Amino acid sequence: GKVGVLYGGQSAERPVSLVSGKGVYDALISKGIDAHLFDTGERSLAELAAAGFDRVFIALHGRYGEDGSLQGALELLRIPYTGSGVMASSLAMDKIMTKRIWSAQGIPTAPYCQVQTREDMDAASRTLGYPFILKAPHEGSTLGLSKVTGPDGLSSAFEEVHAFDSELLAEKFIEGRELTVAILGQGNQARAFPVIEIVAPEGNYDFEHKYVSNDTQYHCPASLPEALAAQIRQTCEQAFVAVGCEGWGRVDVMLDRDHRYFLLEVNTSPGMTPHSLVPIGAKAEGMSYADLCVQILAQASC
Ligand code: DAL
Ligand code: MG
Repeated sequence: GKVGVLYGGQSAERPVSLVSGKGVYDALISKGIDAHLFDTGERSLAELAAAGFDRVFIALHGRYGEDGSLQGALELLRIPYTGSGVMASSLAMDKIMTKRIWSAQGIPTAPYCQVQTREDMDAASRTLGYPFILKAPHEGSTLGLSKVTGPDGLSSAFEEVHAFDSELLAEKFIEGRELTVAILGQGNQARAFPVIEIVAPEGNYDFEHKYVSNDTQYHCPASLPEALAAQIRQTCEQAFVAVGCEGWGRVDVMLDRDHRYFLLEVNTSPGMTPHSLVPIGAKAEGMSYADLCVQILAQASC
């Protein structure tokens, strides 16, 4: 049948999604699938309903694509879609809700506080110590994020991140190695690909180093003791299922100097650009980018 690749959209991550969507589209075409690009930022829901798609591949990131709202619309239209359903998408889009669920299940996540006012920043600094990370809980791709290294940075970080969201997340900064784990499948079929380590120059895996520059290195499988790698993969599978995620996703993890790890978030519609991580994880197990796209599409449901 006819497959829509939903991309672009209206979030701050639109430029990333345009690249992800084009990659997925090319891959599906190369596999003989009747795929069509559909930009949800430029076209209406009525046009989506009229397009005659039998299934859609969601290659959107952030609000109105990854947060459950589009998933709800597709449920109403009865069009099967890739990835997580309404509830898991909206829970995962909210880093605070995700941490509440993980904490309740004993899944390790960094200590945090909620911040609404400038005064809450002082309280957060006392509870967490420096440095801490201030995050807009609904953004991706390192947008709406600031590292606070001392009292002088409290006001500017608050101003900067408050522009994205009114309810913010302050999270203890975990000094150490940055890892991520791609997941395919759902429920007791959810399987983690090998752990990826991200090595950015000066430890800055920010928007620039994610999508623009070529100087970030990815190691997959990450160089870790075998038992630790297995434990991280298993925890990530468990964390994915705990939030109710389906189809595919990616769990971001920090590993501290004492080999303790902390889960940061789960991305339910991760990047699929040529620089992106899920394809790196799949490749480590011999799965090509195109095969990965086909596998994700095969699990579309509504
Ligand atoms: N939010 C970006 C696209 C990612 O997680 O890959
Ligand atoms: Mg994210």
